[in-house]
Amino acid sequence: ERGRKLFLGEVDFLKGVVAMSGLPPADRIEVCFAGRSNVGKSSLINALTGRKALARASNTPGRTQEVNFFTMADSHYLVDLPGYGYANAPLPIVAKWQALLKSYLSGRANLRRAFVLIDARHGVKAVDEEIMALLDSSAVTFQTVLTKADKVKEAEREKILTQVRSRLATHPAAFPELIVTSSEKGWGIPTLRATI
Ligand code: GTP
Ligand code: MG
Repeated sequence: ERGRKLFLGEVDFLKGVVAMSGLPPADRIEVCFAGRSNVGKSSLINALTGRKALARASNTPGRTQEVNFFTMADSHYLVDLPGYGYANAPLPIVAKWQALLKSYLSGRANLRRAFVLIDARHGVKAVDEEIMALLDSSAVTFQTVLTKADKVKEAEREKILTQVRSRLATHPAAFPELIVTSSEKGWGIPTLRATI
């Protein structure tokens, strides 16, 4: 565990942002985690850093309501985003953070790669397509990460993987290689860490 932490460098929470004006200066490389509400973004950040409660995760869709910045080894930012799609929060608030999410994804100069998380049980949905199209048009390279792989049988996972690959082929900004993960079991975490 210690070795793993050293590999990513020390990761610390910096700030939660509610408006574009609150973003830290774009003075270092940044990667972000995007995906539908409840897909497992915050849990993945915790698994990556080996810290259970660095990013707040919960069973309630809409847990993360700010753009949360984490510093990594004083040289990178990791960004945990609010989810898109259904969220268990008041509508005007959801609308506000969705607008911020879109401005962030399309207008952040130092964003080197977005990780787009897809639930291994559900595959690519219409809202995912919308985000991928936004990333295409903003020329932000994105890489798909399948989450909660522990929740599906292998045959089912293969079926979903085929669906996801065929969807990705239609997106010019998509990085072709998928990473299959389970934050619960630690699957795919070293691969994702190495990618970052
Ligand atoms: P929002 O912030 O609401 O958009 O959600 P999120 O994408 O950050 O999801 P979060 O990490 O909060 O996880 C949602 C739920 O899924 C929690 O109850 C997690 O414990 C569970 N979960 C996340 N990753 C995994 C996984 O790999 N396996 C299993 N079995 N459960 C997971
Ligand atoms: Mg979250």
